[in-house]
Amino acid sequence: MHKDVGEIFFTEEAIAKRVVELGRQISSDYAGKSVLLVGVLKGSFVFMADLMRNIDLDCEVEFMEVSSYGNELQSTGVVKILKGAHFEVEGRHVLIIEDILDSGCTLSYLKEYFLAMNPASFSICSLLDKPARRQADIKADYLGFVCPDVFIVGYGLDFAGQYRNLPYVGSLRPEIYS
Ligand code: IMP
Ligand code: MG
Repeated sequence: MHKDVGEIFFTEEAIAKRVVELGRQISSDYAGKSVLLVGVLKGSFVFMADLMRNIDLDCEVEFMEVSSYGNELQSTGVVKILKGAHFEVEGRHVLIIEDILDSGCTLSYLKEYFLAMNPASFSICSLLDKPARRQADIKADYLGFVCPDVFIVGYGLDFAGQYRNLPYVGSLRPEIYS
């Protein structure tokens, strides 16, 4: 385990197992359709890479980049689109892939943003959910795990750009950010 990690919440094995289940569920729900997977950079890229290989459908992959954090632990609530939807959305089955739903500000902003472009459908797949901290009225259609209300890193999630490469999801020791 990395020396800065306090506790592991979701092991590499547990994540892999859940990702297979999510892929199956998505493949069956969208059977016969082609889906546009839109990853929200940067946090979602590890999850997305594993998830898409468990989706048995015609699919395309696109990315957007959004920022609401800076180097802080709390969302600023102000969502900035750094890289927008530079691809066709109208008439397509859009499935947004996120690392974590926290305040919900990012995804409720993105939902409005996409619905304005008339997709055939719009759904959200998030690896993690911290319902305790929700401000916006939004939930994931596909969810990996509910997680405790602590700051977590790993499997794509960062603190100040670090720890995305950890293969598990865990908390940081408080002395790292205090
Ligand atoms: P929201 O807009 O507050 O729902 O925040 C969503 C984004 O904040 C996620 O996509 C993550 O990038 C980031 N985030 C929220 N909670 C955590 C955490 O515990 N660790 C790392 N990043 C987080
Ligand atoms: Mg993110």
